[in-house]
Amino acid sequence: MSAETEVVVMDAYRAIMERRSIRKYKNRDVPEDILKKCLNAARLSPSGANLQPLKYMTLTEDLEKIFGCTNWAGYIDWNPSKDEMPRAYIAILKEEDKGQDIDVGIAAQSICLAAKNEGLGSCILGALDKEKLVKILKMPENYELKLLIALGYPDERPEVVEDSEDVEYYLEEDVLKVTKKPLEKVWIRR
Ligand SMILES: Cc1cc2nc3c(=O)[nH]c(=O)nc-3n(C[C@H](O)[C@H](O)[C@H](O)COP(=O)(O)O)c2cc1C
Repeated sequence: MSAETEVVVMDAYRAIMERRSIRKYKNRDVPEDILKKCLNAARLSPSGANLQPLKYMTLTEDLEKIFGCTNWAGYIDWNPSKDEMPRAYIAILKEEDKGQDIDVGIAAQSICLAAKNEGLGSCILGALDKEKLVKILKMPENYELKLLIALGYPDERPEVVEDSEDVEYYLEEDVLKVTKKPLEKVWIRR
């Protein structure tokens, strides 16, 4: 392993359990070395046939313009204000006709977990005005925009509602309650 990819070992299970989508961010810049760690986590992620069809664009400028191309928290009547918007994004791009969308999802989760490990909040964003975004991003040729990962220091603490049958998260006294199905409902014992 090169020095570039050496990382402090953390409790991966805890990071997975405690990661929640963050949609309210503090007005504080995201350091470049943390973005670099997130990219390394994505870069070393698994991909079908090891095709590595993805490229990653870090975005720390034109943040208001990018924010204008995003959609938030579809189940509730709420949007982050401009003061609460993400302070960086990572765009995940996939080479056309190469690899699979599953590769994109795996890389996205790696980025979110690496961010969590550094005290950053994240939110995977798929509901995008892609037409508008690709004009802002100046995309490389033969790549398509798949997802944005919003990043920043969290200014909210969403809570899991265990054993919920409902998929719709909701706000309760300003706290986002994120419903998750009970283990028994997703575990098929054979
Ligand atoms: C592929 C994908 C696309 C998503 N797109 C959006 C989005 O456009 N806007 C948003 O606010 N959240 C988006 N999310 C976040 C989900 O709403 C969130 O993961 C879900 O509500 C569960 O909450 P949790 O991430 O805190 O566990 C997306 C998540 C995934 C995996």
